Amino acid sequence: MNVTVDGVPVSAQPGQTVAAVVPSVVFCGIGVCFDCLVEVNGVQDVRACQRVLVDGDSVRTRS
Ligand code: FES
Repeated sequence: MNVTVDGVPVSAQPGQTVAAVVPSVVFCGIGVCFDCLVEVNGVQDVRACQRVLVDGDSVRTRS
């Protein structure tokens, strides 16, 4: 699969979460701390450690 992170093309495997391609934003990794919020396809405040990537996703780590 191909996704973008802050406009940069990144390869991802099916089933991987956003956290797998932007590990720098992850803290607890289990959906508890809410410190891994990113924007996915224009939707803000998505938990990177919980959102499974789909082909073509656009992830933004800063607004
Ligand atoms: S890393 Fe803690 S909620 Fe995602």
